[in-house]
Amino acid sequence: MAKTKKAFVCQSCGTSYPQWAGQCRSCSAWNTLVEEVIERAPVDQAWVSPGQSRVLTLDQVDRSAERRVPTGDLELDRVLGGGWVPGSLSLLGGEPGIGKSTLMLQVALHAGAKALYASGEESAEQIRMRAERIGFNGPGCHVLAEVSTSKILQAAEQLKPDLLVVDSIQTAYNPQLDSAAGSVGQIRESAAEFLRYAKARHVPVALIGHITKEGTLAGPKVLEHMVDVVLQFEGDKHHLVRTLRALKNRFGSTQELGLYEMAEKGLQPVANPSAWLLGQRGEGLSGSAIGITAEGLRPLLVEVQALVSTAVYGTPQRSCTGFDTRRLNMLLAVLEKRCGFHLASKDVFLNVTGGLRVDDPALDLAVCAAILSSQEDRPIPPGVAFAGEVGLGGELRPIARMDARVLEAGQLGFDYVWGAKTPGMPKRPHGVHFVALDRISQVVDNLF
Ligand code: TYD
Ligand code: MG
Repeated sequence: MAKTKKAFVCQSCGTSYPQWAGQCRSCSAWNTLVEEVIERAPVDQAWVSPGQSRVLTLDQVDRSAERRVPTGDLELDRVLGGGWVPGSLSLLGGEPGIGKSTLMLQVALHAGAKALYASGEESAEQIRMRAERIGFNGPGCHVLAEVSTSKILQAAEQLKPDLLVVDSIQTAYNPQLDSAAGSVGQIRESAAEFLRYAKARHVPVALIGHITKEGTLAGPKVLEHMVDVVLQFEGDKHHLVRTLRALKNRFGSTQELGLYEMAEKGLQPVANPSAWLLGQRGEGLSGSAIGITAEGLRPLLVEVQALVSTAVYGTPQRSCTGFDTRRLNMLLAVLEKRCGFHLASKDVFLNVTGGLRVDDPALDLAVCAAILSSQEDRPIPPGVAFAGEVGLGGELRPIARMDARVLEAGQLGFDYVWGAKTPGMPKRPHGVHFVALDRISQVVDNLF
């Protein structure tokens, strides 16, 4: 029987070496040598589909791959674009403790059909304790505490599950490679094996992945290229709200947002997110404004809080939670230059409440309104929501899906939407007064 051949290959120039070294002798690059399998032993390929691949015209191609398998979780379905695609490989990334294992275990328990949850992070008893805590009864969910990729795949070959979850790709280990679990070579090799399995057996495979300090998925970038879907699970650990987004999706949009609340009994989908996010709002306070963002198809109302105070130290502080600090600096410069507010010597703190991170430019207007309200110490009248992008010239730019945003605000009882002038927008869409604005300075004139 042929043995598996492996080598350390420089990722920069491709030269291979029998042993690891810190520097490539050929191109002099440092830390580029990664262990790779050069020639695979035949036993490894037990699940590679038999038969030859054929050249087909597009209409000869089987369309069954279009079929979606609902995950049993409406938020996850929304983000995936309708459910798992059979034979797809997905990667769920997130910081430790954010709830990745909980989410995937819930899905495995929920799936009406057979699921295999393979964990290299927890023992079977721990998984059971978690399942009991979630309170799901999933007779179809099978668990396996294992790190060896080939043993996980052997178990999957026997069980023939409809969903395979691997927690996590960083603990998956191929004994044929000498490098430690979590190394670039191991991650790439294990992911490639799961990919072959998924494609050959038409089973959706979900990998859980760790995230580095910098917020990127740990391991080689090639991992993100290999998989069909990259999901990111985020949230502030001190808040209960968790957001699920697709960073890459070969079968759907990357615009959709899933929202969960971490509760005592697992993750609960947030049915009416705007109402939930606005629930703890302090009305009648200065520095608070409601902005309408649209994440994917779903508009969301969020509260923006700003605090403007005189800087005690020489350099004023600017600090943001849930919003881009550079964008805040830009908006402050616009307010200074175009509206004559002297903010250069002020500390400005900004907070998007609920632990949400927003990068929709439509929030600009609410951010400016909150800052102005705090600076003038005058609250914004109740019943007003904002939506508009602010340009460098102080002009307001129209934003996408204004109609849906206004509708959402109306449904939550807002009487006024102040927004960028939008072509074709009636004066009273959905029973809401739409105040169309051209310039940020008009907000100042109208508000105070
Ligand atoms: P976990 O899924 O283990 O996170 P990850 O796999 O991303 O590291 O989530 C663990 C956290 O979630 C932990 O702090 C406890 C909390 N939790 C709940 O609040 N409710 C629950 O029902 C469960 C199962 C966990
Ligand atoms: Mg975990």
